[in-house]
Amino acid sequence: MSENAERPTRLVPATPDNIAAAARCLREGGLVAMPTETVYGLAALATSDAAAASIYAAKGRPSFNPLIAHFACGDDAAREAVLDDNAKLLAAAFWPGPLTIVAPAAPGCRVSLLARAGLDTLALRVPGHDIARALIEAVGAPLVAPSANRSGRVSPTTAAHVLADLDGRVDWILDAGASPHGLESTIVGCIDGEVTLLRPGAIVRESLEAVLGRPIAQAADNPTAPAAPGMLASHYAPRAAVRLNATEVRANEAALDFGGALAGFPAKARLDLSPSRDLAEAAAHLFAYLRELDASGAKTIAVASIPERGLGEGINDRLRRAAAPRVL
Ligand code: TXA
Ligand code: MG
Repeated sequence: MSENAERPTRLVPATPDNIAAAARCLREGGLVAMPTETVYGLAALATSDAAAASIYAAKGRPSFNPLIAHFACGDDAAREAVLDDNAKLLAAAFWPGPLTIVAPAAPGCRVSLLARAGLDTLALRVPGHDIARALIEAVGAPLVAPSANRSGRVSPTTAAHVLADLDGRVDWILDAGASPHGLESTIVGCIDGEVTLLRPGAIVRESLEAVLGRPIAQAADNPTAPAAPGMLASHYAPRAAVRLNATEVRANEAALDFGGALAGFPAKARLDLSPSRDLAEAAAHLFAYLRELDASGAKTIAVASIPERGLGEGINDRLRRAAAPRVL
């Protein structure tokens, strides 16, 4: 716990008693880091402008960047937004699970306008993690939750990552071990009968297309699609510079390898996302390994190339943002 902490932070196992205590804290407007199947989220009461304001302050997040509302079940989510046929199909196929649907907010939507950054759409998610849903149920109201990292930094996949970024800025951290997917939810816009991929993530494009029975457009291809304001070019940034598609490791570089492609080169530090070239394993390791290599003190992290298929689309999206010029 840090001295002069604005909020003394308690990191505790996600037991029923601790979930109940964290739920009470959330009802009173507090902040709780909760495990989800993708990454840890920084949760607050979705219906409260003051609670949403605390999230923006704790993360140092620009308030034009809206938050995802998390629900215990699809029926609760459907009350707050207008889900068209595409949204209903996708929700039935993937909820609970790592899919976020952006849809027009329902008239009388209870989610704080500040959390929605004033938009007339709402991002909805029903997490596939038992602890996250138990917490939402215990609160009895939806929770808004961005990833529990300082704005622009690498997303957290363990409770220790959350503590490293947010000690003194969050009331409770509920520890349920490492996040199984390690990559954030896939975000799709379902507006005016169009489906748009706003952020590639833990559910691969091919699975969405199989359910819809047709290809889906990338946000940039569709000028009428809602923007995902948080998809800033520089994001997920470690302190070190990031060099993509490396075919060798240069002096003083750390290596983020895939399938042993960089194994023959000496490196300041080295981790292999998946020696067997398994993209699910690579996604689960991505953020933790970026943090670990960053801690080696290397000035640059050289990253082996990763195939653009399946989960590779989301992994490469995060790596491109980690490598982008920093404008923080
Ligand atoms: O897996 C996840 O989705 C994690 C866990 C904690 O649930 N959450 C997460 O939240 O990644 P965050 O805030 O780090 O990313 C949410 C993204 C941002 O890029 C934001 O701009 C976008 O969702 N977003 C939120 N509401 C939106 C809306 N109404 N329209 C378009 N994009 C929206
Ligand atoms: Mg984030």
